[in-house]
Amino acid sequence: MSIPQDFIQELKSRTDIADIISGYVTLKKTGRNLMGLCPFHGEKTPSFSVSPENGFFHCFGCGEGGDVITFIRKIENLDYVEAIRLLAQKAGMSVPEDGQDKGLADLKKRIYEANREAARFYYKQLYSPEGKEALDYLRKRQLSDKTITHFGLGYSPKSRFELVNHLKKLGFSGTELIQANLANETRNGNPIDRFTDRVMFPIIDLKGNVIAFGGRTMTDMKPKYLNTSETPAFNKSRNLFALRFAKQKANGQLILVEGYMDVIALHQAGFENAVATLGTALTQEQTAIIKRYCDEVVICYDSDEAGQKATQRAISMLRPAGLNIKVLKVPNGKDPDEFIKSHGDQGPARFRLLLEKSGNDVDYRLAKLLTQYDTENTEQRIEYVTEAAKIIAALENSIERDVYISRLAGEQGISKEAITQQVRKYQRSNIKSANNRQFREIKDNISASKDRINTEKRYKLRAATAEEGIIAIIMTNPDVAVDLFKELPPDLFVTSFNRRLYEVLKSHAERGYDFTLTDISGELTEDEIKGAANILASFHRVNDARDAARDYVKILREEAEKLTPEQIAQASPEELMKQLERMKKKKQ
Ligand code: CTP
Ligand code: MN
Repeated sequence: MSIPQDFIQELKSRTDIADIISGYVTLKKTGRNLMGLCPFHGEKTPSFSVSPENGFFHCFGCGEGGDVITFIRKIENLDYVEAIRLLAQKAGMSVPEDGQDKGLADLKKRIYEANREAARFYYKQLYSPEGKEALDYLRKRQLSDKTITHFGLGYSPKSRFELVNHLKKLGFSGTELIQANLANETRNGNPIDRFTDRVMFPIIDLKGNVIAFGGRTMTDMKPKYLNTSETPAFNKSRNLFALRFAKQKANGQLILVEGYMDVIALHQAGFENAVATLGTALTQEQTAIIKRYCDEVVICYDSDEAGQKATQRAISMLRPAGLNIKVLKVPNGKDPDEFIKSHGDQGPARFRLLLEKSGNDVDYRLAKLLTQYDTENTEQRIEYVTEAAKIIAALENSIERDVYISRLAGEQGISKEAITQQVRKYQRSNIKSANNRQFREIKDNISASKDRINTEKRYKLRAATAEEGIIAIIMTNPDVAVDLFKELPPDLFVTSFNRRLYEVLKSHAERGYDFTLTDISGELTEDEIKGAANILASFHRVNDARDAARDYVKILREEAEKLTPEQIAQASPEELMKQLERMKKKKQ
């Protein structure tokens, strides 16, 4: 039986690989990953690593690896469907029977198309005579034309049929428009525009699909914002506004704000790492997504009571995910948008100051740690200071370390020297584990020469390494992937194992499915899953995935141009000349 992709996606989003594996292996956090003793071979020092953010495990010792489904299959000795059933049971879901899947994927595609046309239409309206009031409104809110275009803002006209008529002319059926929630259904079953006389904010996912809209009234009408309801193509708890821009600029940090306008104002002011939820409180799914793209979140909600409550709630979701948290308080009861506007030219600089001042996480962690000990008791006091020294040792800046050491010494009546010594000790062991990691990387590279799954790799190391980079980027950066699929034909892959992975990923994308390891694992053999997990485990997060992908593609193109010895032997003189010309051009 084949299990619908949508079900697997849902299951995946409800399943935490770290959670599942923790049921079998004791895991400890090291950096972004978790480590433990491999359950698949005997070992005394941990080389079994789990990456919660990318959803896979890999053992550096025995080479075992895969996604959560592979793990359950291996450890429980189950087949694919049985493993899914077990995971579904743990997640409180029941596995659906065959069928339905393709229909849903097609419908989603149609909704994306309708939404894209709608976004175009709204944008055009904004710059038409009818949209003048809306354009004035956006300008009054100090948005530049560049910002309006960047976010694809628009205007939904007053008449209740303009969008419906326009899209019908383009071939969309009334039912499709209702399913896309672009239209409401009248009592006699006809579609009628859902959004009228509102400023439109398209919501775009990481793959560039327009998945929904938010529409703001320019009057006192209620609701202030009208959003697309859930549709087959839109789940508001699984997306974040502007994430596709923000992830490019995240550099380890995202700013989480409450509203669309806050995000847009911040991006315009140069803070392009701002995102917002879509009119709901932060969800578990959004937390997991955030975790994929940064290590630190600056929460910057409204300063009213509701905003403060939401902040507490967000902290309680984000902190257990292992994210550093800062809270940025905007003064005078303003939201970030109002704050920036109220300071004119100086707005961005002032916001930058607020950002830098926002609560330092070490303070918070030390305070929290302190609550776990009774420092009146000498033994517990020593334990507290020892644990605190660990936190301080992780700080990179020596002055900062010194500040915290002094404070801790004063607070706990322990000499500064003693604490400093303890901190140094932890620093040394931190360095040692970093060295160990480097050693492992070197070892991994050497073992490329005996890669059992991709046997061609040893002869084609340069191309194979680039291929692996591309595959890892695809599985972790859906937005970059969408463009890669367009420009990179599978033929350019030199090694057949990597080509096969690429083809599976590409075909998933074309069918409108997600394409993380878990999504494609149903189509791979166990060895192939192992190989894919290995690629992910050996790949290091890059700052700009798009740039890195470009470099890898360049390498593949260069490798493709090189003739093999056989080709050189058989090439016609013309072909040889062409090849030499190409090489000469490259050298210049
Ligand atoms: N929101 C919503 N439905 C509403 C009100 C708000 O979905 N009726 C969501 C929107 O995503 C909005 C966010 O909650 O962006 C924050 O709402 P609010 O603080 O009221 O609006 P602002 O973002 O400050 O919008 P504006 O500055 O345009 O008033
Ligand atoms: Mn506002």
